[in-house]
Amino acid sequence: MEIPRHLAVIMDGNGRWAEKRRLPRIAGHREGAKSVRRVVEECRRLGVGYVTLYAFSTENWGRPRSEVEALMRLLVQFLEQETPRMISNGIRFNAIGDLERLPDSARRAIDKARDRSADCRGMVLTLALSYGGRDEIVRAVRRIAAEIQERRLNPPDIDAALLGSRLDTGDLPDPDLLIRTSGEKRISNFLLWQLAYSEMVFSEVTWPEFGEAELRAAFEEFSRRQRRFGLTAAAPEESRSAAGRLS
Ligand code: FPP
Repeated sequence: MEIPRHLAVIMDGNGRWAEKRRLPRIAGHREGAKSVRRVVEECRRLGVGYVTLYAFSTENWGRPRSEVEALMRLLVQFLEQETPRMISNGIRFNAIGDLERLPDSARRAIDKARDRSADCRGMVLTLALSYGGRDEIVRAVRRIAAEIQERRLNPPDIDAALLGSRLDTGDLPDPDLLIRTSGEKRISNFLLWQLAYSEMVFSEVTWPEFGEAELRAAFEEFSRRQRRFGLTAAAPEESRSAAGRLS
């Protein structure tokens, strides 16, 4: 089974999982947080290098205030509980998105988890929070414009590699595989630039039901896709990283 170097996940269906059981939506998010732990730890065991999870989108700010507040509390609780476990598993914590919009408590918890896990080298776990792909590209363009204004950059210097380096994900490789749960087949403004060459696997189960077996099934599917790419059997990695360089 081929293991992606970078796995990105759209964790969808927490609300549906809860509604089906006549539970409040936040119960679905709580159950979803358990899936995060299961999937992240299984990825670490399997040797995935980078996992990036869509935890809260720029559009999610439009949800009822009670749900937004509950998600923020869940995030803080998750980081407080999980950081020691992440560190003992060699997982470095990272976050992308417009983090300035987050409440202070969430920003503090993020900074603390980042600092405490900074020396971990086994895997990078990135949470996309207050994240939107278009918003990320707009912020990157603003950074580039400021550099030009300050005469640190000239317009001809701008190419795909430079723009990629100014995105929030500047220090991450592009994802090899995107998984979206719960049957929807959309990107929903996630990693618009970075997913240019990624394989996509759509799982019918909701995120709280997604566990080790479903993850392995997605990796099996990813392995089959690789072969259908028409790359030479001997050098798929070389061909894929060449494709990656195009972005
Ligand atoms: C999508 O389900 C999920 C979210 C908007 C939030 C993702 C959050 C978690 C997995 C739990 C918290 C995570 C961490 C890292 C603490 P949905 O509510 O859109 O589901 P629906 O489409 O069925 O309504």
